[in-house]
Amino acid sequence: MSDSLALERQGPLALVTMNRPDRHNAFDDALIAEMTEAFRGIEADDSVRVVVLSGAGRSFSAGADLAWMKRMAGFSLEQNRNDAMGLATLMRTLAHLRKPTIARVHGAAYGGGVGLVACCDVALATQKASFGLTEVRLGLIPAAISPYVASAIGERACRRFFLTGERFDAAEAFRLGLVHDLAADEADLDDKIGAIVDALLASGPAAVLAAKELIRAVANRPVTSELLQDTAERIARVRASPEGREGVAAFLEKRRAAWVPPPPPEPAADLPPEMPAE
Ligand code: COA
Repeated sequence: MSDSLALERQGPLALVTMNRPDRHNAFDDALIAEMTEAFRGIEADDSVRVVVLSGAGRSFSAGADLAWMKRMAGFSLEQNRNDAMGLATLMRTLAHLRKPTIARVHGAAYGGGVGLVACCDVALATQKASFGLTEVRLGLIPAAISPYVASAIGERACRRFFLTGERFDAAEAFRLGLVHDLAADEADLDDKIGAIVDALLASGPAAVLAAKELIRAVANRPVTSELLQDTAERIARVRASPEGREGVAAFLEKRRAAWVPPPPPEPAADLPPEMPAE
């Protein structure tokens, strides 16, 4: 892995950090390939249960590296097609990761940066974060990211922001549903992300994966009899699974389910100072 991407493990957590702070974490073809590889590795590693994506320095990500875009403009249409598939593949790899993903957004999130946010399951931002689908201002279009952004904020909001390229603040991103919550500052952002991670780790590991898969199976699909059958099949299998049995039994027996991490130990009580020996 190059210096442009950092991958850190904290127990079941994988922290993926874009690390081109002098470029506000704009990504070029090399970083795109590295991120795709990192997400594939995470997918294959059963010990990872949650993924947090963030940016080093002042921003989350300023989107596609414009020096790379400029370079590519000199290549043939065929070469541009192949190159553009790299970004499309990164977005799909992230959006379709079986594991839960969280975007930690601070500073700027523009263009492809908004795409990465939209590809994550949960997104939290600081109140000072700024957003924009600014491609048209550069004579470009937000092509690779469009399915995920449209699914996050809806066609109506896309009609405004894809076409105008206006920048918008964190309050607007929250109102649009692009981010789920806002934090006062980066320390508060980390606390709030910690709470989301705790909630994910308190849930049945297989159930979380099955819940994510369920969303993909039902979202934007007509409620046909096949779909009803599919949802019935899913819950039937899950409630008869070892995890489903354990979760329900733990609730009824008023105990922690087997997968729930034990609470951190209480800090040692202050002991009275020892009496000096007579
Ligand atoms: N690609 C390549 N370089 C970028 C970049 C991008 N997407 N975004 C920022 N940079 C570079 C700047 O060119 C600058 O380089 P320099 O130090 O060699 O001059 C450096 O990062 C710092 O950016 P700067 O604009 O000076 O910082 P700022 O704090 O004033 O503004 C942004 C930061 C992100 C708001 C601003 O750079 C910006 O609007 N970037 C374009 C984002 C965009 O439209 N992305 C969509 C791409 S399709």
